[in-house]
Amino acid sequence: MRNLIALVSALQVAGAASISPEIEPRAQQQSGDACTTLSQVIQSHAVKGKDLLVEGQLVHDCLTALPFKSQLTGQFLTELRKYVQFQSTLEALKAPPKSYLSPAIDILGGLDTIAKTTYQSQYDFDMALTSLFNSANDGHLDFQLCSIRPTLLFFRDPSYQMVSVSVDGLAAPALYLWNDASLITSKTVKVSPVTTINGKKATDYLNDVASRITSQDPDARWNQLFPSYAALASSGSPAYAYGKFTTSVVWPGTNSTVVGFANGTTLAIDTVTIMPAAIISGGNFPQNAEDLFENICVPSSATTANNQKKRSLPSWKFPDNYDDETQEKQTQLPTSGPHYNQMNGYYLDAQTAVMFIPSFNGEGQPDDQDGKFADVATKLVSDAVKSGRKRIIIDVSGNGGGNINRGFDLFRLFFPNGFPYSATKFRRTDATNAIDTIFASLTQQEASNDPWGWKGQVRPDQKTRVSSLDDFLGSGALELGVPVSSLFANFDFAAFSSKDSPVRGFGAVPLSDGMCASTCTTFVNLMTNVGGVRTVAFGGRPSTGPMQIMGGVRGSQSYEIDDIYAKVSQADAMLHQKPSLLSSDMTAKWQASRPINSSAFPLVLGSGSVNFRNAYQQGDDSTPLQFAYQAADCRLFYTFDNYAKPATQWQAAADAVWGGKGCVQGSTGAQGSRAYAAAHPNQSGGSGSGSDGDSKKKNGANNNREYAYGGLGAAMLILAITWSL
Ligand SMILES: *[C@@H]1O[C@H](CO)[C@@H](O)[C@H](O)[C@H]1NC(C)=O
Ligand SMILES: *[C@@H]1O[C@H](CO)[C@@H](O)[C@H](O)[C@H]1NC(C)=O
Ligand SMILES: *[C@@H]1O[C@H](CO)[C@@H](O)[C@H](O)[C@H]1NC(C)=O
Ligand SMILES: *[C@@H]1O[C@H](CO)[C@@H](O)[C@H](O)[C@H]1NC(C)=O
Repeated sequence: MRNLIALVSALQVAGAASISPEIEPRAQQQSGDACTTLSQVIQSHAVKGKDLLVEGQLVHDCLTALPFKSQLTGQFLTELRKYVQFQSTLEALKAPPKSYLSPAIDILGGLDTIAKTTYQSQYDFDMALTSLFNSANDGHLDFQLCSIRPTLLFFRDPSYQMVSVSVDGLAAPALYLWNDASLITSKTVKVSPVTTINGKKATDYLNDVASRITSQDPDARWNQLFPSYAALASSGSPAYAYGKFTTSVVWPGTNSTVVGFANGTTLAIDTVTIMPAAIISGGNFPQNAEDLFENICVPSSATTANNQKKRSLPSWKFPDNYDDETQEKQTQLPTSGPHYNQMNGYYLDAQTAVMFIPSFNGEGQPDDQDGKFADVATKLVSDAVKSGRKRIIIDVSGNGGGNINRGFDLFRLFFPNGFPYSATKFRRTDATNAIDTIFASLTQQEASNDPWGWKGQVRPDQKTRVSSLDDFLGSGALELGVPVSSLFANFDFAAFSSKDSPVRGFGAVPLSDGMCASTCTTFVNLMTNVGGVRTVAFGGRPSTGPMQIMGGVRGSQSYEIDDIYAKVSQADAMLHQKPSLLSSDMTAKWQASRPINSSAFPLVLGSGSVNFRNAYQQGDDSTPLQFAYQAADCRLFYTFDNYAKPATQWQAAADAVWGGKGCVQGSTGAQGSRAYAAAHPNQSGGSGSGSDGDSKKKNGANNNREYAYGGLGAAMLILAITWSL
């Protein structure tokens, strides 16, 4: 277990709470189930305030010992399905267009199959559901089920992190252990690449692990298998920085991973689990699987109904986000970037500034934070201009999205006259029809903050207002099999406030790792397709050819189920006041389709979200961007230095774009790139024209926050935006 010491120090370096240096031994076999054994290990070794390292197998055995209560899971699925219906892409996912690079998946059919299956444990049920949702490869579709907690992570011993490295950024990469990778160009030491994992071809094994990562682009998924400082910056959690080969929220499927090298030797990597200090405080862990189930899966309202039971429960609780706050504080980025380190500036050389934006996420931040984000961006750019720099690289590596107005506003910073085109549609269902019909009675002002009441909506031109409920809901048309609303803007800019800070005489080249998702893709989409900015993608699967820049979810609105429920509740209250708002037929449909409060679910549902709205490109009103393909203008593979010293990526991007060093073979001129658009002027979906807009931003409530997130660890696309005038 020597290597686990390295794990400990790696975690400490990365800023995690300190953990015990040795994996904890199991006690002698005793009565009880696997959770009893786990509980005993915890009881005898827990030290207050310290994380505990235990065998992964032991934790897995305990989780799979949780009971399976089919009556609860059956009711749970019935209620969950009502929220899933708000996902915009259900039908399109069943038969996606050719431009979509991921497998087709039938989410509703999958729910039916799960409902008919008898599982051994709650964990097996939760794993089946998670696997189904993950196969939509959409970071906006996410439900936190009771036995799968992001705070309880499985690790393949991180002292053996793997990377996919190229010797020079152009040659196809090979897989190496991190320490070996640092030596691939060494003349004296000979290191061997990883060729097999658990008896399979290593790339096949890794592609299989990657297939469950929630990014739509396979190259973006591949990048997320490996360590990334950008992911550390965006998630604030060292665990996510290791990459998803090493770190997993779900059981990785094996207690030992045997890695085979080209030279014929093998290495076994153990699966371990870190029990966070916060969830084992005082060693007080439930003593058997039934108690654990009561703790993490039975809603507290159900336990309070039974006082006897409540008293016999251990006081132990499973926090959902033990690490967010503490780790955010502990994680220090290379420079002390102001304001949550979300907008960071560097000078690469005398000509080139770098803007590193690991996230657009403003959740949990003060209300004026969007404005501060914009102010810092403005200062960064104006300082760069004053210092005589003419180029900027915008690095959105690891950026999983966030507040959508930050994306629009930042675009306007660079292109004050560029029109921030946005076009969305949602999936029509009995529930959305009912809410929209009820909300038709809201005024324009009341309806302007949500995508519901038609009076608050404008068309993508930001001038034409939606004129009626029918006009809003569309003609009942299907698009890729999806019944959709008509096309309307993300929001009415005039009703939305944000700071507008034009900068002139400045060009840019953005840079990305494919992990750009959600609001990040909105921003990049505008920069590239309206602004005409060049892009460089980094990494991807080990074969040459083009790579997409926006590998994460490209839907335009992630909707939390609790926020959906707030609207459901509001609609109910309005309907209660005035039952005539819905016909009796619609009322019946509403009652059958309206979701319940997540706190009333028969099993604990930690949180959840769906992609509520699709986004569209100017000139193509019928291909949701989630299913569209847009290659970067240039692709580079990661060298070891790029992993170890991320700033070297900026130099590599600058060298490729301005230094004539070139791009990966076959990676330029592919569909969606600027060169392709120039050669195919009549095809939509490429570069847009960037017309002048008239979006006047007025002062107004800045509480209007619309979120679009990708899953963290979406593709590691270093979005290398480079622009020059
Ligand atoms: C084979 O390669 C691995 C990885 O570089 C190295 O750790 C190991 O020592 C090598 N084995 C032999 C026998 O050369
Ligand atoms: C590891 O997994 C293998 C295969 O499932 C199993 O046979 C073995 O008992 C496990 N090891 C431990 C320590 O549980
Ligand atoms: C949902 O339930 C929770 C817990 O009972 C409650 O705090 C919340 O207000 C409810 N939501 C709405 C919109 O009623
Ligand atoms: C492209 O569109 C223009 C204007 O609609 C038309 O005149 C031209 O023939 C088209 N070119 C091709 C190659 O289709």
